Amino acid sequence: MSSFKRILVTSALPYANGPIHLGHLAGCYLPADIYTRYQRHRGQDIIHICGTDENGVPITIRAEKEGVSPQEIVDRYHGNIAESFQKIGISFDNFSRTSLPVHHHMAQDFFLKINEQGYIEPRTVKQLYCDHCELFLADRYVEGTCPNCGTPGAHGDQCDYCSHLLEPTALVEPVCKICGGRPRVRETKHWFFLLDAFQERLQTWLDTKTHWKSNVKEFCKGWLNKGLKPRAITRDLQWGVPVPLEEAKSKVLYVWFDAPIGYISSTIEWAQKRGQPDLWKAYWLDPETRLIHFIGKDNIAFHALIWPATIMAYGEYILPAEIPANEFLNLGGKKLSVSKEWAVWLPDYLENFSPDPLRYCLAANLPENRDADFTWKDFQTRNNADLADVLGNFINRTLTFLRKYFDDRIPKPGSFKGQDEEVVAAIKGAPAAIGDLIETFQIKNASQESINLARLGNKYFNDQEPWRTRKENPRRCATTLYLCAQLLSSLSIILEPFLPFSAEKLRKMLNQEDSLSSLDWNQGGQLRLQPEHHIGSLEILFPKIEDQIIARQIEHLNQDAHPSAES
Ligand code: 2FM
Ligand code: ZN
Repeated sequence: MSSFKRILVTSALPYANGPIHLGHLAGCYLPADIYTRYQRHRGQDIIHICGTDENGVPITIRAEKEGVSPQEIVDRYHGNIAESFQKIGISFDNFSRTSLPVHHHMAQDFFLKINEQGYIEPRTVKQLYCDHCELFLADRYVEGTCPNCGTPGAHGDQCDYCSHLLEPTALVEPVCKICGGRPRVRETKHWFFLLDAFQERLQTWLDTKTHWKSNVKEFCKGWLNKGLKPRAITRDLQWGVPVPLEEAKSKVLYVWFDAPIGYISSTIEWAQKRGQPDLWKAYWLDPETRLIHFIGKDNIAFHALIWPATIMAYGEYILPAEIPANEFLNLGGKKLSVSKEWAVWLPDYLENFSPDPLRYCLAANLPENRDADFTWKDFQTRNNADLADVLGNFINRTLTFLRKYFDDRIPKPGSFKGQDEEVVAAIKGAPAAIGDLIETFQIKNASQESINLARLGNKYFNDQEPWRTRKENPRRCATTLYLCAQLLSSLSIILEPFLPFSAEKLRKMLNQEDSLSSLDWNQGGQLRLQPEHHIGSLEILFPKIEDQIIARQIEHLNQDAHPSAES
């Protein structure tokens, strides 16, 4: 396990244009939360920073669709998203908004300083213009066939199918998304960030990241081999951060220029809220801070190339140390699609189920190295088999036995032998084994190793047959129950990053008073319950989910989906 002076974790800022769905959660928020909770237990100086991405066309398009103002959209969805995150237990240290003055100020400062350094240049460019709407069609106001993979419906700035970044003029058969007309090419002026000036520095920097995941390394290699090109960072739009130049008054910054700067402005807001307004600087200026960007794979170009180049051009802030980008989560074998309403929304989930089963199901199935698939059936199985039959059962049988035969007290053990030693070794080894997996972003395996501890507990309980030894060999029975209780105590710490709500309840059941947040991770490897310790009352943590409940969810999903939803 490694220690760092300071860790700054960020999760991609979600657009405030709709609720959070399971793809978002599995892509970055859940792994980032598990990582952060774990490091907090280790006493590391760590903060998890996020906020809503409230600028650009993703917002204005939604507003137009609903016939309301962009402000109304961002206000509504900032609240909606923050509430979902809170309910599912994503424990951000700050959840900000890129519409706040602190962010506008920071983004404009970035633009001006980079401009001063000579890395921004105005250029006259040809852009798609809709005569009917009298508008230059920025990014997502235009749709067409992707020139890279040939899939129809690609956005002006990116194809959702192959993740290729695009220029709107490159689209085949472009269509104006407002009126459906065919736009024409017309000249306008935009400011370009000279990304190409950073080709070598990026290459040298990325060469040091040999341990990064292959999806990130391969993506960057592809871009660098093709040669980086200047990129427009302004847009003809009324909503967003105004370009801080007199001659560009009617333009705003491209949302992908300002969004990552939101990581800094959210940290500033965090420091202000704590009454230590300069504290953010330690996180962004000290090269010993470990900056970790959790993202989904569609955001790799921005975080591993364009954003680091922006930081280099600005010339003060630290570069990311890690970019654990996840692949996509599919849904029922088909690509998740918001526009085709093929998605499971977090607010809907939370109306029907408690948070931990979903956290567990997604953690056990994270798209870390390849796309993964969420199905309601798998959700049911993970809940009923792993949580109810393995973990829940181990908790129940241990605590019920203690209640019935040991007067709710931890018994005094005899000497350890054979299988007892195995259990003690598993407890002692768990914090380092599971910690190493989390630190290397193998969070899916870490979740399985944690549940395996409960599995081992059940096997131990079965093999030791305490219901038999109770009469034949009471000392043996006491040892068995003593160790089962120790395993539960250990699980209540080790499982906290994955199942924070259940871990807290388990500690109450064990009547362990020290609050979880003050507990050191390594205490998960100790035998902490003393003989005679009185346990609390038993609660069923993971009720089984019946078939008809799952059938209803599947029906609901299929009802909402457009017929064209497909892989
Ligand atoms: O892809 C998205 O949803 C973007 N809103 C992510 C932004 S990440 C960061 F740069 F802010
Ligand atoms: Zn039009």
